[in-house]
Amino acid sequence: MRSSLVASAVLLGLLVSSPAAQQSTSAGGFGSPLNNLTPDQLAGFGAGQVAFQKIETVSDGLGPVFNEASCATCHTSTVNGNAAVGGSNGRLETRFGTISNGAFDPMTYAGGSLIQDHGIGLSKGVNFVGETVPAAATIVARRRTTPLFGLGLVDAVPDSTFKTLAWIEKIYTPGSAGTVSTVTNLSTGAPAVGKFGWKAQNPTLFQFSGDAYLNEMGVTNPEFPNENCPQGNCGLLAANPEPGLNDDGTDVRNFTTFMSFLAPPPRGPVTLQTQAGEVVFNLIGCANCHTGTLTTGPNAIAALNRVRFHPYSDFLLHDMGSLGDGITQGVATGKLMRTAPLWGLRAQTQLLHDGRAATPQEAILAHDGQGAAARNRYIALPPSAKAALLAFLNSL
Ligand code: HEC
Ligand code: HEC
Repeated sequence: MRSSLVASAVLLGLLVSSPAAQQSTSAGGFGSPLNNLTPDQLAGFGAGQVAFQKIETVSDGLGPVFNEASCATCHTSTVNGNAAVGGSNGRLETRFGTISNGAFDPMTYAGGSLIQDHGIGLSKGVNFVGETVPAAATIVARRRTTPLFGLGLVDAVPDSTFKTLAWIEKIYTPGSAGTVSTVTNLSTGAPAVGKFGWKAQNPTLFQFSGDAYLNEMGVTNPEFPNENCPQGNCGLLAANPEPGLNDDGTDVRNFTTFMSFLAPPPRGPVTLQTQAGEVVFNLIGCANCHTGTLTTGPNAIAALNRVRFHPYSDFLLHDMGSLGDGITQGVATGKLMRTAPLWGLRAQTQLLHDGRAATPQEAILAHDGQGAAARNRYIALPPSAKAALLAFLNSL
């Protein structure tokens, strides 16, 4: 515990160095744009939001197999009765695979690892239907749609920060230390730090946009030009009504702009109890992975330039033991999961990657592996400290 305090102090020095603006909160609440955008940037946010909400049709390139017809279908929260575009409706997706020769096999030949559960129906004599989990799959995992609020700030944090964070954790809190997910940035071909997705499988919002456009909607685009083979049967693509590139990159850029300028979730009320709860959070080692403060690097966009913000995540991979989803993506093997950011927790009705937890306490109790020690310290807390910690979480 002492080491976690040391780590926090070191982190504070390293990550909160140089002049940094405080997190750009937004007067408008969940789903609003960042403060202090220029009129042009605000217009880009608006156009991006329209593209994000647009329902694609077969003639736009939707399918042949897909999950939903717009980004916003899954990525919209209901907060206090209002729709917040960029959030999450809790939609679960299915991934599957098996183990062959000791290694994870995504069963691409059978349409894995991600299921597209809708099909466009009849085209050129082929009836395209949603994919199903094949009988031979031995691993089946569900993944919950994550809210996207504030992720433009995360995108603007330099890779070196995450590497430094991993280094600090290894030295000061080795029992729970995270590792960097190294992935390929498809735009540059170079290795980059993955920070987006439950397995930190994507390095940028731009890349995630192209990936999601193909894998959630079946819309091919410059970085992701190859259509998914329905249930692994590539021969069926001869009947694809829209072969060729469906998006020239315009939509992908629009989605990226929208998400880049989406404000972080507004913080709920801070009281004496929530402040005490944050102290408990730090003391029992939650903050070893759920890093309170990060700072963006130098950025030509003022709203993203050296901004200090509070995601409560290190965006690193941790061995979560039995909580792992069994799926391998890149370096993220079965037990490795990205620390879930805790900002905006009070607006979420389902927690953990598969939505198995309905409350923060249930989520804590499911922590295993590198998270087991903090979980056990939580269990051992006196009731008033537990209540303070939960009040803190419910204020995020
Ligand atoms: C069918 C529902 C669905 C649709 C449609 C969808 N998403 Fe997602 N989105 C998800 C799920 C589920 C995840 C978590 C995926 C994972 O990590 O495997 C996710 C994750 C993300 C993330 C990573 C967020 C984070 O926490 O790191 C981004 C960015 C994203 N989606 C953008 C988009 C964009 C842009 C579109 C439209 C092109 C889109 N999504 C369409 C369900 C959806
Ligand atoms: C070893 C790193 C680690 C530690 C320590 C840790 N967590 Fe987590 N936490 C994670 C990871 C990784 C996830 C995502 C796991 C998943 O869903 O598979 C997560 C998820 C959560 C969630 C669910 C968030 C969501 O949106 O689904 C909550 C709440 C949470 N943690 C709270 C805590 C609290 C409180 C503590 C201290 C008692 C704690 N965590 C300690 C790594 C950690």
